[in-house]
Amino acid sequence: MQTIEQILSSYDAAAPLAQASTIPASWYVDERIAELELRNVFSKTWQLVAHTDQLRKPGEFVATRLAGEPIVVVRGNDGALRAFYNVCRHHAAAVVTQPCGQAAILQCPYHGWKYGLDGSLKGMPEFEGVENFDRAENGLVPIRVETWECFVFVNLDPQAAPLQQFLGGLVKRVTPLGIGRLHYFDRRTYDIHCNWKVFVDNYLDGGYHVPHLHKGLSSVLDYKAYTIENEGRYCLQSSPMVSSDEDAATGATRKGDRAWYFWQYPNLMINCYEGYMDTNYVIPVDADHCTVIFDFYFSDVSEARREYNTQSVNVGNRVQDEDLGICEDVQRGLKSRAYGAGRLSVRREAGEQLFHRLLAADLKRITAPLQAAAD
Ligand code: FES
Ligand SMILES: [Fe+2]
Repeated sequence: MQTIEQILSSYDAAAPLAQASTIPASWYVDERIAELELRNVFSKTWQLVAHTDQLRKPGEFVATRLAGEPIVVVRGNDGALRAFYNVCRHHAAAVVTQPCGQAAILQCPYHGWKYGLDGSLKGMPEFEGVENFDRAENGLVPIRVETWECFVFVNLDPQAAPLQQFLGGLVKRVTPLGIGRLHYFDRRTYDIHCNWKVFVDNYLDGGYHVPHLHKGLSSVLDYKAYTIENEGRYCLQSSPMVSSDEDAATGATRKGDRAWYFWQYPNLMINCYEGYMDTNYVIPVDADHCTVIFDFYFSDVSEARREYNTQSVNVGNRVQDEDLGICEDVQRGLKSRAYGAGRLSVRREAGEQLFHRLLAADLKRITAPLQAAAD
């Protein structure tokens, strides 16, 4: 069995695209890599956890998990947005047990401890006589939270750079699209039997698979004019659109001059057409599984547009089903003794190389001091 150091050193991040290979198959199947990613990537980067519409009023909350940690985001009575580890300071039960909702106070279901919306400990039944217990020191443990456009992000790393700095150049590219005018409509969640990176790779292949796998989508894209731009931690894939009635549902719901496909390292995608956006957020489960959450937004979410919007979500769902099948196939192939790593198309797959380089830098950079400390 290879050591983790051998696995990490088997990827050459310095190779130019024309000479580069993907990260090796072992990175997609080894649980040690999956654990390293949780610790060094998902616990250190800004992660999407909610959209602002879910957290407008005082007491509105969203509870979820991030890198294995239970977390809760809540709007305070003072209007401030706060995030906490959703772990009771008494005996570690989850304080908030609903995925979302509204509450005046956060009360642990186990022994009834109460926390304010600001995380402060407000009450502990039958706790008289306990010595050396400072209530002020026993509030919910806070987590960094920031918003951008309609998205709420948290970061488990107290030392992390601010969200805008993390997003970098993505902000200036997304702002002109005016996504703030769109409204949340629907969510679809997919459990996929593949490593989370297989899903990201599939997204970042510069349209390479579109004519083969997505005949419907392919009919509205000018495939030859598809562009791929890398900068910092994001990749923008974009294509001029053509009107087509080859696939009626796709033609009716995927419109505009251009299709915009943004990926932000490590696991967020934002896809825009005219009057339309969907976000894809990829959550690793273990080396072999991930969950992908699709949120759909439209410029008009009135009752009169419900049927059209539903048809549009269904078009997205069909594309996703096509991707899902191939991703699970790839995961099986990655375990084959016949496969080690693959080469990259210079015309199409620069985005994948950016992803692999960023990931390798994070995994290698952070393991070095850990090893040094252990020596
Ligand atoms: S664990 Fe929450 S009150 Fe006991
Ligand atoms: Fe696809």
